[in-house]
Order: sequence, then C-alpha cells, then structure tokens
Amino acid sequence: MASHAAATGPIGVFDSGIGGLSVLSALREELPQEQFVYVADAGYAPYGERDTAHVLRRSQLLADYLYNSHHVKALVLACNTATAAAVASLRGQYTSLPIIGIEPALKPAAAQSRSGVVAVMATRSTLESEKFQALLVAQIPSVRFLLQACDGLAAAIEQSDQVAIEALCHRYVQSLREATHGGAGIDTVVLGCTHYALAADVLTEAWGSDVALLEAGEPVARRTRQLLEAAGTLCQDQAHDASKGSAGASFFYTTGDPSALDQALKDWLVNPLPMRAAKLLLP
Ligand code: DGL
Repeated sequence: MASHAAATGPIGVFDSGIGGLSVLSALREELPQEQFVYVADAGYAPYGERDTAHVLRRSQLLADYLYNSHHVKALVLACNTATAAAVASLRGQYTSLPIIGIEPALKPAAAQSRSGVVAVMATRSTLESEKFQALLVAQIPSVRFLLQACDGLAAAIEQSDQVAIEALCHRYVQSLREATHGGAGIDTVVLGCTHYALAADVLTEAWGSDVALLEAGEPVARRTRQLLEAAGTLCQDQAHDASKGSAGASFFYTTGDPSALDQALKDWLVNPLPMRAAKLLLP
C-alpha cells in the first residue's frame, strides 16, 4: 500500500488513552514544526489486560482511521502494548509508511545500571508478548531483569484516581524490592508502559531519588525524526507553517470521554494548545 508521503501531512499518534501524551510531549519537543493527530482509544482500554486479538484489532482500526481520514505521513504507536501486539502486522500492511513503535528501554537500562539489577514495570500483555521475550533474551546476561506486571495501574492513571495510583505504585515497588531477596539492589527501573511516565512523581517517591526511572519517549521522537528525514518528509519550513498558524499544532480525538482527555491535555502537555478533544466513534 502506498503512503501519502507529503511533507505537509500530520504525524499520527495513538495509545489506549492518555499515556501516549508522554510520548507526544517528546515528539513536540523534537519536531516543533510538525502537526500531530492524537487518538486515545479510551473507550476500548485498558489494553494491557486484554487479549492480543483485541489490541491487534483496535490498533488496525486506529491505523486505518489515521491513514485514511488524516492522511498521516508517519504513525507513532505511543503504546508498548499495541507495539508488541500490532507493529509487525501494521508494517507489513503499510509498507511505505514510516511506523514507529515503542518498547521497554531494556538496553539503555542494562547499559547504565551499576548494580546489574533492573526492574521492568509494564502491562501483563507486554511482558507476556513474544516481542518482549525476544528483547529480554537479547540483553547481556550479566544484568538481572525483574519483571512486574502492574495490573490496574494504567487504568488508575487513566481515571486520575490518585488513591489507587499511590496504592498500586507502592505495592508493585514493594513486590519488586522483595524479589531481590536481599541481593544487590535495583538501581534502574524501566517504565514499560507509556501511562506510567504520568505517575513518575509517585514512582520516584516510592523508589527513592537514587533509583533511575527510564522511559522511551525521547528515543521514539528521535527515531521519528530520522525516519522522516530518510523519507524526505520532514517539515522544515517553519516560517511557512508559522504564518499559517499551524506550526506544532495538534488535534485530539478519543473513543472515550472528551472532557477527560481535555483535562489530561491541561495536566500533561507543556504549552497546551487551545484545542478541544473530539469524540471519535470507531467501534
Ligand atoms: N499505555 C499503554 C502501554 O504503553 C497501555 C496501557 C493500557 O493497559 O491500556 O503499554
């Protein structure tokens, strides 16, 4: 299938909900002249505790919507769970569209850990996926990875349920700490779900400030830039875009409650745009 390879097209970004806003922030920082269309699939979330067929089907619908209705020139899966389930199939279908996925930052964590003990917090679906298991076995054997499926945490973040966020973060941190059995301590934590970056303050408090939390928004943004450059579709004409008032503009859609996404935009985006999220019906 051919892509709409126009340098003026927007970049499509989707997640099961608001978690991908942590990736969108890095994208806007790296590519301030680009336009973005963000879809939160909150009506069909959370993805992380659903079966792969559900996540694959939703990812397919969202990709088709962004491609056919917004003529996106690149697609960012701002969701580890959707990437694990669907990135290979989407790349097989949209062969000339740059498609950027996100995966837990195991390699950078292994490189920077001094204790050699790294915790990975992610959704159950991500941790059980073949893609993640392949990533795990490709790491250097001298580093020990402790895996924690954080059931309920993405949903609590999606609902801004602060009591549940704090309880779940502390429960999972405690369980990971206990798993070290008094051995070398965890000094690096991979946030393998884009929602968890939005709870970084609670997680930092639970882990302590000498433990590093790693998420992958910035590498995804750099990779997106590289692929747009390679495709010749990077938007360079800042003056032109600024004159149209469109530089860095974003459009937001949700299959859930638009007012919840509006609130998340205010809470999580630096320089939020005066945009209102629109309801998207995508059954
Ligand atoms: N934000 C998604 C991820 O990165 C998943 C959250 C969910 O379970 O829906 O994995």
